[in-house]
Amino acid sequence: MLPGMSREPSAKPRVTFVGAGNLANALALSLCEAGYEIEQIVSREDPSSLRRAQRLAHKVGATAITISRARIQSEVVWFCVPDRAIASAAKSMAACADWTGKVALHSSGALASDELTALRSRGASIASVHPLMTFVRGSRPSLAGVPFAVEGDSAAVRVARRIVKNLGGHAYSLRKEDKAAYHAWGTFASPLLTALLVTSEHVAAVAGIERKTAKKMMLPMIRQTLANYAALEAAQAFSGPIIRGDVETVKRHLRTLRSLPVARDVYLSLARAALAHLPGKNKRTLERALKSARNLLTRNLSTRISGRG
Ligand SMILES: NC(=O)c1ccc[n+]([C@@H]2O[C@H](COP(=O)([O-])OP(=O)(O)OC[C@H]3O[C@@H](n4cnc5c(N)ncnc54)[C@H](OP(=O)(O)O)[C@@H]3O)[C@@H](O)[C@H]2O)c1
Repeated sequence: MLPGMSREPSAKPRVTFVGAGNLANALALSLCEAGYEIEQIVSREDPSSLRRAQRLAHKVGATAITISRARIQSEVVWFCVPDRAIASAAKSMAACADWTGKVALHSSGALASDELTALRSRGASIASVHPLMTFVRGSRPSLAGVPFAVEGDSAAVRVARRIVKNLGGHAYSLRKEDKAAYHAWGTFASPLLTALLVTSEHVAAVAGIERKTAKKMMLPMIRQTLANYAALEAAQAFSGPIIRGDVETVKRHLRTLRSLPVARDVYLSLARAALAHLPGKNKRTLERALKSARNLLTRNLSTRISGRG
């Protein structure tokens, strides 16, 4: 393009990523496949950070550079750093570009676009763009049909929506004040679901089943539960001792879980959720059984704390 010529507003803007972790890897590769030019992958100063940025840069035809040396030309800069580092990373990038007319994005689900205020005061338009998806090392999910919650300045939101569309995702508006609750919801749907699954493996160990074997044995039932949940209402996908009202079975579980206090705590909380939101017989009796088990848990905890004092 000739100097002084402005790029078509509808053209795919060049994108720089700050960070080369799970999300940056997935987004940079997907954007590259969607025809976007990735300009730079910006890292922290230490050599191991730069090496990670170089690995990603190599895959997407970009340049890897540390913050102190970055001079950014791209129209979009996407911060893919941990939530706690977004504001400080934005501050330390303030001198890396003329931010007038640029778009700065971050992808925290819990924090608003305001984390990027340091760049807005230098002329950037800012937005948060959060995909409701899980990104981990060694697995790249498809972004087709993935909802992206978008919030921020109108120019940045416009650009973000176009990018999301090109990624095959579905952008929708989220109010700043709803972000914490929205992200708590997302945390239930994946990270805490994983926490539940690993807790299940520990419970299997009490029954003498090794954790790796337990995972293999549980998977058909987990898959069927998710399939039922996807196809039916939650209430129709619910089975087990609570819907049948088998109070003595629940009490037996709680007795055997005394050897695993964390799992017992999880069981009690989820059983309470089941009584609150799902169908079941003998709910009153079950509620009393859960309450007395919870009281026992609290008494044991306070005895342990006072014993320590
Ligand atoms: N993973 C997900 O499932 C997911 C889903 C939706 C949204 N998000 C959001 O995406 C963002 C990134 O998450 P992630 O899972 O990709 O994290 P991650 O895998 O831990 O990667 C974080 C990256 O940020 C870099 N970094 C850390 N502090 C930095 C700083 N002060 N300045 C510059 N770079 C820094 C790290 O580099 P070094 O450690 O190598 O220096 C690393 O490359 C978060 O806001 C998160 O909420 C994540």
